[in-house]
Amino acid sequence: MFFSVLVLQLLAFQPAFSLPLVGRGAEPDPSQAVSVKLDGKDGLVAFGLIPSNATESTGDTIGGIGSAIALKSFSDNGSGAFTGTLTVQPDRGFNVDGTIDYQGRQHAIDFVLSPYYGTSDLSSADAQKTLQLTYKSTVLYEDKNNTKTTGLDAAGVRPAQSGFPSVAAADPEMPIPSKSDNRLTLDLEGLVLNADGSAWVSDEYGPYIYRFSAEGDILQTIQPPAAIVPMDKGKVNFTGDSDPDTGRAGNHGFEGLTVNADGTALYALLQAATIQDGGDKKKNARYTRLLKYDISDPTNERPPLTGEWVVPLPLDSDKKTLAASELHFVSENTFLVLSRDGNGHGGDDAKVEYNKFDDPSNPVAKKGDLDKDVDPATYVGFVDYVDKTQLARFGLHNGKPDDQTLINAKWESLALAPASDPDFPDDYFLFTASDNDFISTQGIALGKPFNAGEDVDNQFLVFRVTLPGAQVNI
Ligand SMILES: *[C@@H]1O[C@H](CO)[C@@H](O)[C@H](O)[C@H]1NC(C)=O
Ligand SMILES: *[C@@H]1O[C@H](CO)[C@@H](O)[C@H](O)[C@H]1NC(C)=O
Ligand SMILES: *[C@@H]1O[C@H](CO)[C@@H](O)[C@H](O)[C@H]1NC(C)=O
Ligand SMILES: *[C@@H]1O[C@H](CO)[C@@H](O)[C@H](O)[C@H]1NC(C)=O
Repeated sequence: MFFSVLVLQLLAFQPAFSLPLVGRGAEPDPSQAVSVKLDGKDGLVAFGLIPSNATESTGDTIGGIGSAIALKSFSDNGSGAFTGTLTVQPDRGFNVDGTIDYQGRQHAIDFVLSPYYGTSDLSSADAQKTLQLTYKSTVLYEDKNNTKTTGLDAAGVRPAQSGFPSVAAADPEMPIPSKSDNRLTLDLEGLVLNADGSAWVSDEYGPYIYRFSAEGDILQTIQPPAAIVPMDKGKVNFTGDSDPDTGRAGNHGFEGLTVNADGTALYALLQAATIQDGGDKKKNARYTRLLKYDISDPTNERPPLTGEWVVPLPLDSDKKTLAASELHFVSENTFLVLSRDGNGHGGDDAKVEYNKFDDPSNPVAKKGDLDKDVDPATYVGFVDYVDKTQLARFGLHNGKPDDQTLINAKWESLALAPASDPDFPDDYFLFTASDNDFISTQGIALGKPFNAGEDVDNQFLVFRVTLPGAQVNI
């Protein structure tokens, strides 16, 4: 369950130039380089958790919520504390023994953040007072005709019915569990909240991007370019259980989803390289893709693809790719990427004939070797999640022993809020949460109790960071 020592890196990267679908973009502007200095009050400032056995309004265990988080509201209460509401989105339920019929959903969690800047180590109980989390409510996702979505493996395919959902391609295929079960199946990873209350969410099966209303009704679907859609033996196949011949690898969908500050551009990051770009092997899987969609017109059912980059992910000491589990917009051309054990570092973009590389028969990195027509970008290390001294201040540790104060393995989400400190105007709070995979000895899934043999709480961390030029809009 846990890595004995967790490798977790948060990186900042710049795609450097925004590319038209065909042709070269401008050269990168060095003045846009992100500053990664940690000074003033920077560091880990809060820790909070939701216990592994906590339940939500449907009776199910609250789990997996670190897959995606977004700040719905955030305010400075004027006496050193900050209050607000986080929207969090689990992936596909307790699936250690196979996928389950888990309906897609999001939860609202109220919080009080009381940043701790002291140097002495807090007890575990006191540390948990720095970020107090209170579950509020749940919205369940529904397909057309009020049909519940599911989390079962997407072994089947159905055509998109006319009028449902609106799609980017003419007749896209939709992921369903089987011929006899045509419900939309989702393995959710990314979350972006819109001003109108609706949310963009990204998924691992399609990998598609969907929009749901504030009430949870499906509104539209974006299908990515053909290079990313999983094709097996000449047919679309969305199963997460095996790798296709081309397209995204199994369980390597759009882990990262983020939006620019004015809500007009949506960015989606594939967890690691497509199969044709080397994604069938960890040591070749570093050249993943970042897509940009123009969502400035809310009435446009088919948001146009306006940019595409190749992002080289970081490598670990064994030269294995550290996969990207989250992406967060900082400013035009600068993003934070969360990369961890298994895959990671990277960053830049391909200049070039995107039409060419959108065809699965033209890899950007055959067997992991980058095509000479592609210019990759550079990453900068940003926050080390597993700094021993910082963790100890909050009663946490990395490595042995494997207990409740061990830092969780799967950190998969990021959200930024202003620190509102006149002495440090470029300071922000960076919220991050972990996916606990619903591991609880007292779990409940689909109304039935389960015992996963261990208790892993839903852990949250808040870092204070300096990010000159960041554009944050909540
Ligand atoms: C969770 O477990 C703790 C410790 O066993 C217990 O006190 C608490 O009542 C449980 N909560 C729920 C919601 O079952
Ligand atoms: C701000 O929040 C803190 C922590 O909950 C609380 O102690 C304090 O009274 C609050 N201040 C105001 C002005 O609401
Ligand atoms: C919704 O219901 C209509 C009318 O019964 C039917 O034609 C359509 O196929 C249904 N759509 C889905 C996605 O089940
Ligand atoms: C997809 O592949 C899986 C595994 O090979 C297979 O069981 C399933 O039937 C395939 N689905 C379709 C729609 O071809």
